[in-house]
Amino acid sequence: VQPPGPGRAARLAVEDVALADVAAAVGTPTYVYGAGEIAARFHALARACRSHPTLIGYAVKANSSQAVLTHLARLGAGADIVSGGELRRALVAGVPADKIVFSGVGKLDAELDAAIAAGVRSINIESVEELDRVAARAHALGRVTSIALRLNPDIDPDTHPYLATGLRESKFGIAMSDAPALAARARALPDLRLVGLACHIGSQILDESPFLASFERLSGLVRALRAEGAPLRQIDLGGGMGITYAPADRELDVERLGAALTAAVAPLGLELVLEPGRYLIGSAGVLLTRVVGRKRNGERDFVIVDAAMNDLLRPALYGAYHPIVPVDVAAGERPPIRADVVGPVCECGDFLAQDRILSPAEPGELLAVLGAGAYGMAMASTYNSRPLAAEVLVHGSEFAVTRARKTVDELIADEQVPAWLTR
Ligand code: LLP
Repeated sequence: VQPPGPGRAARLAVEDVALADVAAAVGTPTYVYGAGEIAARFHALARACRSHPTLIGYAVKANSSQAVLTHLARLGAGADIVSGGELRRALVAGVPADKIVFSGVGKLDAELDAAIAAGVRSINIESVEELDRVAARAHALGRVTSIALRLNPDIDPDTHPYLATGLRESKFGIAMSDAPALAARARALPDLRLVGLACHIGSQILDESPFLASFERLSGLVRALRAEGAPLRQIDLGGGMGITYAPADRELDVERLGAALTAAVAPLGLELVLEPGRYLIGSAGVLLTRVVGRKRNGERDFVIVDAAMNDLLRPALYGAYHPIVPVDVAAGERPPIRADVVGPVCECGDFLAQDRILSPAEPGELLAVLGAGAYGMAMASTYNSRPLAAEVLVHGSEFAVTRARKTVDELIADEQVPAWLTR
């Protein structure tokens, strides 16, 4: 998002496209992504890791827009996928199979079959049961399949409890103490090739120390497996690189992170794999919404907007903070008020901001919810029969609708009413 500057119109823009123009053409609520910001983020991370071979496998779950995926694939990103659906999306977007890693705690046989047949770079194994199942599927398909063990390094990444995935009691990964036995079992299975170790400790991490701590835990095992002759080629430290949401948030020093991780990994001679989602797309997206009305209940002021928890769940689910700014910058000069920004959904949890100091937006005016590119549209639903938001990708002074808003009749047309109810 471009703040207004000298010579720039006093209207909020993504790159050179005024958000007011997007709203006029496409309506609201609409997610607007900047292709330039996505590329800048990708290049910044790639540059930070330049001293050592690194695969940046974009975590598709953060934003699985086909346009965003295609953009990242063309920049050279791989993909971290967690389902057959994400596999299909990544392949259709042009991500080469040998740049795709398959994570996830509940992979289905049909999903494994598709990944094995596509020849993905590695399937990250989460349990002994899954190890045996992947071996059986690989055998049935007659394809020797590359796997990695996803370990649970028991590191606390100091983030929201819902976002910490590498703790001992979480459902993710294999306990470090079980890893040697699993590795031995994997190496005895002729249809599998154990090519690496993986972990993902959590999300929205703002410094390198938790990554280095999990690397330390994994590297001991790398040496032990090597000593036994395992042909390891990659170490996957997961995603989780954070972005700035609240003005007071620290900023991740990506150059420092990349330097630290590549320096740590280099002596092992393994390719580094990273699985960033939020870092690549989070700051590149805004949710554009229009004010429906204002009201006051008791001591509380409400700004009611046409985007809701079904469009952006993060505030309701995690108490997440997203800046909300007026699109008409002149509105930002009015004396601020303290208010909740809420949607029309019938839930007390339906808010985009609570107790927020903001400029008093009037009905009909536009607001932009910032930092909404990751886990915004990806977690959206049609709750309250609200069609999904539209999506727009900006490129310089051009924008393209990458997902058109559906009508309610189109939502209804996706369903069938059994004949006995209409007879
Ligand atoms: N790799 C694995 C195995 C993951 O489980 C995840 C995210 C990632 C990579 C990417 O993490 P990122 O770089 O985006 O932090 N809905 C939550 C985030 C859930 C993340 C789940 N796993 C949110 O809105 O904050």
